[in-house]
Amino acid sequence: MVKRGAPVAPSRTMRHLSVPRRETQQILQQLKADGDLPEGARVQPDPSDSNRTLIPIKEVSTTKLLSIYPVTEAEPPTSPPKTYHDHLSKFLSENQVDSIDWPSRHEFIGDLILIKLDTDQRVFGEAIGKAMLMQHPRTRAVFEDRGVVGEFRVRDLHLLAVRDGFDSTTRTRVLESGQYLWTDPAKVYYSARLSRERQGTLDCAKKLSETLKRPISVCDPYAGVGPSLAPLVNEPGLLSELFASDLNPQAIDLLRENISTELATIDCADARLLHQRSELNGKFDLLLVNIPHDTLEHLPALMPLLNEGGVVRGWVVVEDENLQVATNTLQEIVGQAVEIEVRRSYSASANLCRFESKLDL
Ligand SMILES: C[S@@+](CC[C@H](N)C(=O)[O-])C[C@H]1O[C@@H](n2cnc3c(N)ncnc32)[C@H](O)[C@@H]1O
Repeated sequence: MVKRGAPVAPSRTMRHLSVPRRETQQILQQLKADGDLPEGARVQPDPSDSNRTLIPIKEVSTTKLLSIYPVTEAEPPTSPPKTYHDHLSKFLSENQVDSIDWPSRHEFIGDLILIKLDTDQRVFGEAIGKAMLMQHPRTRAVFEDRGVVGEFRVRDLHLLAVRDGFDSTTRTRVLESGQYLWTDPAKVYYSARLSRERQGTLDCAKKLSETLKRPISVCDPYAGVGPSLAPLVNEPGLLSELFASDLNPQAIDLLRENISTELATIDCADARLLHQRSELNGKFDLLLVNIPHDTLEHLPALMPLLNEGGVVRGWVVVEDENLQVATNTLQEIVGQAVEIEVRRSYSASANLCRFESKLDL
């Protein structure tokens, strides 16, 4: 039986002029002006002479430069893939690649990528995952993110692809303000988008400590995995005491891993009941309130945790038309003027706002 050779890919070679390196720019300009440069032309080093470069030239060109410089056949350099999209053809047919609009946005959390897919895109979920792993060498696994679920606002994640030899856990480590934190988007709430707010919390705590001329006590009853607290804990001499809690037991496990200071008490508790504990009531200089959808309902039960002269700093989602009403409600609950500032858009008609108030001494 006669064995046939493997099919050979059609040659992509094209004509190039081999020109002295120092003349490259001038010849390029001349070819461009005369319309002799192919579209997307890219210059490359001449492999046979390090002092020369290869400039591609249109097949139809009859420029007189062809009789001045050596002409050689070479493959044009391939441009590196720019997005995961450039890898899809390794897993899908040309027809499939052309059949839908591909998702263009995704989120990195540690060594994971989370991506939202519509029904058409979900059919190709595995190919999207594999293409993303090819494009992002530091990513371990890719998950479809089907949105936020449950009272703890965790992500509904579905594995699309995992790198060979690695595990497909959703537990991952993120870098925030120079610090590593463990998190798990399928089990606890965490958003890297709020990292600038956390820098502001550090500034607020430092200012309060300077005003009071002593280390301060801080209460974060919606601490999650502790991203607001890590910068405070690392600031020498800033804290006298820290109480951090969350209702989600899985957040507490990660919080204990992330925040390890003898000054910290970490507890799994409903924030609204903390004021019933005498060791917490009226004890804190700074109270963080990060439950933006429920702030107005929860805040009355939290205020007793503050000592006299303490500061409350929190976040609240407010519909555009309700900003004044929300400000008035906050002032009523806090019992004095409250500064409120729109920080970012939350939806077409609502914003995430931050509020801060200093209680009278
Ligand atoms: C918006 S997240 C903030 C988490 C964290 N502070 C951060 O910046 O990543 C709200 C947190 O409140 C927790 N939570 C929800 N209801 C609660 C309650 N009644 N008491 C205490 N924590 C609660 C959730 O589990 C979640 O971790």
